Amino acid sequence: MAYKNLLLESADGVATITINREKVLNALNDETLTDLSNAFDECREDADVRVVILTGAGEKSFVAGADIRELAKMNPLSAKDLAYRGQQVLAKVEHMGKPTVAMINGFALGGGLELALACNLRTAATTARMGLPEVSLGIIPGYGGTQRLTRVAGPGVAREWILTGDMFTAEEAHRVGVVNRIFPPEELLAGTMKMVESILSRGPIAVRFAIEAISRGSNMPQREGEILESDLFGLAASTEDMHEGMGAFIEKRKPNFQGK
Ligand code: HXC
Repeated sequence: MAYKNLLLESADGVATITINREKVLNALNDETLTDLSNAFDECREDADVRVVILTGAGEKSFVAGADIRELAKMNPLSAKDLAYRGQQVLAKVEHMGKPTVAMINGFALGGGLELALACNLRTAATTARMGLPEVSLGIIPGYGGTQRLTRVAGPGVAREWILTGDMFTAEEAHRVGVVNRIFPPEELLAGTMKMVESILSRGPIAVRFAIEAISRGSNMPQREGEILESDLFGLAASTEDMHEGMGAFIEKRKPNFQGK
C-alpha cells in the first residue's frame, strides 16, 4: 500500500514503520492517522511480520504530538470526534496482537507519547524528551494518555506528568517505568534490535498469548485475569511449539519454533 506520511519496511520478521513528516517534527495530522491505521492493518495481516518497530523520521523527533494547526480549528463536537478517532487508531495499535516497540528517537509529546504508550514496549535515545504538555494548550490528553500513562507508570507519575505538562528526560522516563530501555542515540537501533531479537527467538504463539494475557488482563479484576491466563496457558499446551521448547531444554539444544 502507498503511504503519504510514513515509510513501511519489512525484513527478517521485523516491520519498521517510520512516521515521516520531519518538517513538523512528525506531528500527527488526520492523513497520518489514516496511514498509521492502514500500516498496522498491513502488519497484522502479513504473516511474515512478527514484530513491529515504530519510530519517527530524522534525529530530532519521534512525534511532537497531534498537529496543532488542525487542533486549533476544533469546536466541542469536532474535538470529541478527533479524540475518538485517534483513540480508535491507537486501540488498533494496542490490540494488533503482535509485539510492538516504540523506538523514541527524539521528542515524544502529547499524542506522540500517547502513541508510544499504545505500543507494548518503549526504547528511547538518551537525548529524547517526552511528556504530555496538553494542559499548556488548554486541553487535556485525548488519545488515551490519561488512561495508559496511569496503567503503565501509576497514578502518581501520571498526575505529575499530566498536571505539570513538563517535558521529561529519557533517564527520568526510564526511572519511572515509562520507557523500558534507554541507549545513546547512536546505539538506539542496535539496542532496540537486541531486545527484538530476544522476542523473535521465543515461541511466537507463546509471545502472542502473553501479550493478550497482559493487555486484556490489565483491564480485568485480578481473579478474572488469572482465569484468562490459565485459559491461554492451556491453549499454549496445545501447540507444537510447547513440545519443541521443552524437548529442546531436555535435549540441551536451542529450540526451533515453527509458530504452530
Ligand atoms: C504542528 C508542529 C508541532 C505540532 C512542532 N511543529 N510540533 N506543528 N503540530 N504538534 C512544527 C513547528 O510549528 C515548526 O514548524 C516545526 O515543527 C519545528 O518546530 P519548532 O517549534 O521550530 O522546533 P523547536 O524550537 O526545536 O521546538 C520543538 C518542540 C516544539 C519543543 C517540540 O515544536 C513544541 O513545543 N511543539 C509542540 C509540542 C506539543 O505541544 N505537543 C502536544 C500537541 S497536543 P514551522 O513551520 O514553524 O517551521 C496533542 C493532543 C493529542 O498532541 C490529543 C488530541 C485529541
